[in-house]
Amino acid sequence: MAQSRPAAAPWWRSAVIYQVYVRSFADGDGDGTGDLAGVRARLPYLAELGVDALWFTPWYVSPLKDGGYDVADYRAIDPAFGTLAEAEKLIAEARELGIRTIVDVVPNHVSDQHPWFRAALAAGPGSPERELFHFRPGRGPDGDLPPNDWPSQFVGSTEPVWTPLPDGDWYLHLFTPEQPDLNWAHPAVRQEHEDILRFWFERGVAGVRIDSAALLAKDPALTDLADAPDPHPFVDRDELHDIYRSWRTVADDYDGVFVGEVWLPDPERFARYLRPDELHTAFNFAFLSCPWDAGRLRASIDTTLAEHAPVGAPATWVLCNHDITRTVTRYGCADTGFDFAAKTFGTPTDLALGTRRARAAALLSLALPGAVYVYQGEELGLPEADIPLDRIQDPMHARSGGTDPGRDGCRVPLPWEAGAPHAGFGAQEEPWLPQPAGWAAYAADRQAADPGSMLALYRRAIALRPEFGDGPLTWLPAPEGVLAFTRAPGVSCVVNLADAPADLPGHTELLLASGPLDPDGRLPKDTAAWLRA
Ligand code: NOJ
Repeated sequence: MAQSRPAAAPWWRSAVIYQVYVRSFADGDGDGTGDLAGVRARLPYLAELGVDALWFTPWYVSPLKDGGYDVADYRAIDPAFGTLAEAEKLIAEARELGIRTIVDVVPNHVSDQHPWFRAALAAGPGSPERELFHFRPGRGPDGDLPPNDWPSQFVGSTEPVWTPLPDGDWYLHLFTPEQPDLNWAHPAVRQEHEDILRFWFERGVAGVRIDSAALLAKDPALTDLADAPDPHPFVDRDELHDIYRSWRTVADDYDGVFVGEVWLPDPERFARYLRPDELHTAFNFAFLSCPWDAGRLRASIDTTLAEHAPVGAPATWVLCNHDITRTVTRYGCADTGFDFAAKTFGTPTDLALGTRRARAAALLSLALPGAVYVYQGEELGLPEADIPLDRIQDPMHARSGGTDPGRDGCRVPLPWEAGAPHAGFGAQEEPWLPQPAGWAAYAADRQAADPGSMLALYRRAIALRPEFGDGPLTWLPAPEGVLAFTRAPGVSCVVNLADAPADLPGHTELLLASGPLDPDGRLPKDTAAWLRA
């Protein structure tokens, strides 16, 4: 009997996934806010870039108190972005171009405008409607103290996570008061979310990104963190795994995949979410937060691969997203790592240096085994923008007492055409966030015509990436400060983070480099190369 060939690895194990922040991607109707019409018009650009899937940050009906992570209706598109019919068209049109769609589901909390929360407010203390959330009377003789001591999940915020109501109850919100936390011990909450998953899988989406995935389960007694820190009363509780096992059976009905937003420092605890009957993948925030340092990056890569191996899940490689300082800015600062707590106004940055490193980092991450995420504008090398104080919308800024610049600097509307108003974003009116002076220089049309541009590098790298095959990573001997590894069948990646130029290992062909080699054919500092052995 002929031996059957092994089935090809599923797409998501090695995909390049492009994150679309709809509000800032492209404006199809000219009102200053990006929308689905804008995305549909730019699908050819995404196909040319060569990405396998699009992850859309929440596009549902929302008062946008936290950029759409405050969802009022999970089954409808916000009218500012379009309609459900348009979303269905977009999903189908993308699929025709070979691009899958991932939607963003926000299970930890809803908008305070969600019908469930409005009903809970109206129904009053002790009502079944309030059981879907965490309502409690206040503490202290007059009930004017919050029910417990839990800290805000907006790093840097000293604002309380409880808001009092005139009827004596307080409600829990780990983020803004407009994002009340759901009670995941309630069966209706579980049922509702499984129905939402089915709703989107039925519409042809290939995957779901799970927001704040490690926060859903709460200690039922809502014990003070100071009294019961371990297990943590609301981070990474064991009850979560039962929820995700159940979600997995839903996804399996549709061949759908999950990517979890799981920020956990402990690699073993992190990997638990990736057991074969739970989530398929999770974002690699350790790699994203890692400074531009050869030893630290190598250790981060090794830890990542080692933590994923026992559960058989592919790693993900992420350099930034809609919450994180833009890569070219971060790599140009004195501190090249990322830490929410360290964000301040006016951090000096050397953009030329940051861009050189970001180009090398792109080749590094696209050569590693696993899936790679690219956040819109990363392929254009956009820097973090300074947003005038009176235009900042991100609640992280206000909730830090004005010390944290917030996340709007990485959410600025994209520049598409250098010669058009608002750099071709599509807006007739002022875009919802201002584009800084000089934004047009980053426009996609200009970069498409320049073989030395960041866009040209990303296009070329994504096209060549299959050369690495799906073999495991083997480190090659390399001088201090140089990362060199190979993947079967003999393609290697070398990244020089040392101060001096490095000799390239023996090769037959230089496939791609993030910058020119020196006159002696050596790899300059902060440069990466892909080689065929
Ligand atoms: C993580 C999202 O990425 C972020 O933008 C949001 O503010 C929080 N979760 C709360 O939903």
